[in-house]
Amino acid sequence: MHLEKILHTKYPIIQGGMAWIADGAFAASVSNNGAMGLIATGGRTIDEIRKEIEICKSLTDKPFGLNVLMLHWEVEAISDLVVEYNIPFVTTGAGNPGKYIKKWKENGTVVFPVVPTKALAIRMERAGADGVICEGTEAGGHVGELTTMVLVNEVAEAVNIPVVAAGGICNGRSMLAAEALGACGVQLGTILLGSEECPIHPNYKDKLIKSKSTSVKVIGRINGLPTRVVKNQMTKDYIDLEKSGASLDELEKLTHAALGRAVREGDMERGSIMAGQVVEAITEIRPLAQIFQELMEEYNVEKIKLCQGDRS
Ligand SMILES: Cc1cc2nc3c(=O)[nH]c(=O)nc-3n(C[C@H](O)[C@H](O)[C@H](O)COP(=O)(O)O)c2cc1C
Repeated sequence: MHLEKILHTKYPIIQGGMAWIADGAFAASVSNNGAMGLIATGGRTIDEIRKEIEICKSLTDKPFGLNVLMLHWEVEAISDLVVEYNIPFVTTGAGNPGKYIKKWKENGTVVFPVVPTKALAIRMERAGADGVICEGTEAGGHVGELTTMVLVNEVAEAVNIPVVAAGGICNGRSMLAAEALGACGVQLGTILLGSEECPIHPNYKDKLIKSKSTSVKVIGRINGLPTRVVKNQMTKDYIDLEKSGASLDELEKLTHAALGRAVREGDMERGSIMAGQVVEAITEIRPLAQIFQELMEEYNVEKIKLCQGDRS
């Protein structure tokens, strides 16, 4: 793994952008603890994003990044903030950031779009991206169809820029597996929800601790915005509505601002409890420092065992 050399971080780890959740303080904590911290733009207005950038800058002198959500209603203005604030690192989610890459690169920003397919990875390489983050369907939040196992492997073969693996990574073994597939680093989302520093409601954290890998489900495959969440009353109602042939508007009424309801109000029945299949790996709430250290230690031990043929 050598992502740390590209990002100037201690560890080859990126914190996934997480809408409504990853604020300036959280991103700064992640960066101060050796990974690349990211401020999410999803769910925030331009003024709120500005505020979070200022907070992050005041709390760390380490590099940090902005996750630019392509579906954001003010994506154009967010793309300008990257230049205005000289943001060192950008990831993008839910779309094709091709038209912004030149502007960001001219600013000296390192750009890693998140891609769900090989075709988009190839387009991003042609558009000048520094690397791509291949996010498999195991991930929490909005997901594509392909698994991390298939996607990372085929993108690593198809492009000549660094490839980062995301989706389903929670410990040293899965990190090593990502490397074996061709990744130079990993992006983590779900496992970081179980950190002390993560600014989600305590009910959300309790729910994650109690959840198994089989507790999560993708809803919204029919309406084109598939999202992996922990099953609850909202997902049950959603599926019932889908089966009854409800319109997109009716379905959206259920999910609109539902992540915010879970994150801020701790509503575990009507909220959208986004989490990935590795949710079962959250068994207690730990400090970020411990999460990263244990992950890296386990990765190093597993790598030695693998090299020595000692993995019985
Ligand atoms: C609660 C939650 C919210 C997320 N929101 C975003 C987002 O706003 N933008 C984005 O690019 N990815 C988002 N993601 C995906 C993460 O950035 C990351 O790629 C993913 O969580 C990695 O897979 P994992 O959950 O298996 O670790 C979100 C994930 C979670 C769990």
